Amino acid sequence: MSQKIALVTGGTGGLGTSICRELADAGFRVVAGYNSGGNHDKAKAWQEEQKKDGYDIQVAYGDVTNAESCAQCIATVEELTGGTVDILVNNAGITRDGQFKKMSWEQWDEVLTANLDSMFHMTRLVINGMVDKGWGRVINISSVNAQKGQFGQCNYSAAKAGIHGFTKALAQEVARKGVTVNTVSPGYIKTAMVAKIAQEIQDQICAGIPVGRFGTPEEIGRMCSFLCDEQASGYITGADMSVNGGLHMS
Ligand code: CAA
Repeated sequence: MSQKIALVTGGTGGLGTSICRELADAGFRVVAGYNSGGNHDKAKAWQEEQKKDGYDIQVAYGDVTNAESCAQCIATVEELTGGTVDILVNNAGITRDGQFKKMSWEQWDEVLTANLDSMFHMTRLVINGMVDKGWGRVINISSVNAQKGQFGQCNYSAAKAGIHGFTKALAQEVARKGVTVNTVSPGYIKTAMVAKIAQEIQDQICAGIPVGRFGTPEEIGRMCSFLCDEQASGYITGADMSVNGGLHMS
C-alpha cells in the first residue's frame, strides 16, 4: 500500500510543527504548507531543522486567504509527492485580539478570512480526490474559545465556531465515502500565539485551567494522528475533540 500524503497548513508554526512530526511518526508522507509572509528562506531553514531531528518533511508555499495561492500550493504538493492529498489538516490561523467596542473591520476581516475562508479554499481543492479514492481525513483546528467565547476575541471566536459548523456539515456529505471530517479544539497551548498575551493575563488564564498548566503542541499533534489512525478513526466523524486541560467541559 502506498504511503498516504498529509498536508498541514501553517505547518511550520507552533502547533503545525508538532502535527507534522506526529503524522510523520505515524508513517504518513508529510508536507508542511507555509505562508511566513512569503519568507521562503525561513521555511527552508525550518525544513533543515526537521531534517536534523530525523524528519523528512517537505514544504509548500500557500497563502490560505487566497484561492489561487491555495491551488498553487496543492499543485506543489502533487509535484513533490507524485500523489494527491489524503489527509488535510486545516491548521493555519491568526489572532487580532481586542475588545469588540474598539475592533476595526480590518481586525475582523483578517481573522475571518485567514481562519474561516481558508477552510473553503483548501478543503474544496482536495475533497473530491478523497471521495474518489474512498478514503480521506480532514482535520480542522478550532479552539476552546470557539466553544466558550473569550473576552477580546469576538472575531476569533466567531471564525473558530464557524469552523465546527463547517466540519459537521461536510462530515455528513462525505460520511459514506470513507472520508471523515473532524474538529480539534485546543485550549491554551505553549506556542508563540499564546506567548503574545500579556503575562498577567496568561497567569489569570492558567489559574482557571483545571489541569493547572498550558498544553503542549505534542498533545495536539497526537490527537491529529489519532484521528488518522486506520484502526481507531473510521467511526469518528463530525466530532469536536477538546484538548484543553478541562478549561471548558461540554
Ligand atoms: N472579562 C471581563 N473583563 C475583562 C476581562 C475579562 N476576561 N479581561 C479584561 N477585562 C477588563 C479589565 O478589567 C479592564 O476593565 P476596566 O477598563 O474597567 O479596568 C478592561 O477589560 C481592559 O481593557 P483594556 O482596554 O485595557 O484592554 P485591551 O483592549 O487593551 O486588551 C485584550 C484586551 C488584548 C483582549 C486582553 O484582554 C487580552 O489579551 N485578553 C486575552 C485574549 C486571549 O485569551 N487571547 C487568546 C490568544 S491565543 C489563542 O487564541 C489560541 C487559542 O485558540 C486558545
